[in-house]
Amino acid sequence: MVIMSGLNAYGATAALPDPLLQIDGVTLEYTTRDRVVRATHRIDLDVYQGDRFVLLGPSGCGKSTLLKSIAGFIRPIEGQIRLNGQVIDRPGADRIVVFQEFDQLPPWKTVLGNVMFPLIATRHLPKAEARERARDCIAKVGLTGFEDSFPHQLSGGMKQRVAIARALAMKPRVLLMDEPFAALDALTRRKMQEELLQLWDEVRFTLIFVTHSIEEALVVGNRVALLSPRPGRVRAEINCHDWDLHSLGGKDFQTAANRIHDMLFADPQEAAT
Ligand SMILES: Nc1ncnc2c1ncn2[C@@H]1O[C@H](COP(=O)(O)OP(=O)(O)OP(=O)(O)O)[C@@H](O)[C@H]1O
Ligand SMILES: [Mg+2]
Repeated sequence: MVIMSGLNAYGATAALPDPLLQIDGVTLEYTTRDRVVRATHRIDLDVYQGDRFVLLGPSGCGKSTLLKSIAGFIRPIEGQIRLNGQVIDRPGADRIVVFQEFDQLPPWKTVLGNVMFPLIATRHLPKAEARERARDCIAKVGLTGFEDSFPHQLSGGMKQRVAIARALAMKPRVLLMDEPFAALDALTRRKMQEELLQLWDEVRFTLIFVTHSIEEALVVGNRVALLSPRPGRVRAEINCHDWDLHSLGGKDFQTAANRIHDMLFADPQEAAT
């Protein structure tokens, strides 16, 4: 494990490609009737093409809010988020979100219909082409044979696979996942992590993945940003190319996880010294 501060995954001296996504001093707030809640404070992060970038932090530290802002649903009150140099100011088909909830699929559409729909609606693909791409993505997530099933006929894990297939079919520049496996049982969760990594190996999409599980962050990510409790600030960036599902339970893995735990929950004053 390499603890980074201000460097990126490519190392300090290597010639750096331009980041695909730049989060530059981003502060996000919610204004309710009686108060203002600051969710993140001046977040700086660069995400590179093909990164599996994890946002890790305790509940309420602004992970989902930051993801929604990258998706274009929430505007920063300070700072900017740029994709390929363009400031993000609205949602777009180049950034697709997979949420935690199993009910993100319209229940009246079949698996095939669910995956095809955004391709036709927002990508304006002809039906035959959309069907072909949808079938291909359904196969990639291991659901061939379930094209005509409805969401209520699927398990939670299968529904999440459909949501992933639907997102992948759109070929987004960045795939955003907000705790997509958190509501699954431990075994299914492990399997989904494995499948996601296999899928990434095949397709090499750029992923931003939110979790509050240290283990999941180390397994899924190649880079992890540690966010402090409210409001979320970047406490550290970690490179974790070394870990995969086979590392789980190993001594080094446990040491790394413990170290991250201490960094996440350390007193900010102590952490600075
Ligand atoms: N719609 C909203 N209106 C007002 N405050 C909100 C709203 N959504 C979130 N917040 C507040 O913003 C802060 C960050 O919330 P957010 O959902 O981004 O946290 P999170 O890191 O995703 O937490 P979790 O791990 O529990 O999902 C919290 O203090 C939360 O109470
Ligand atoms: Mg959240």
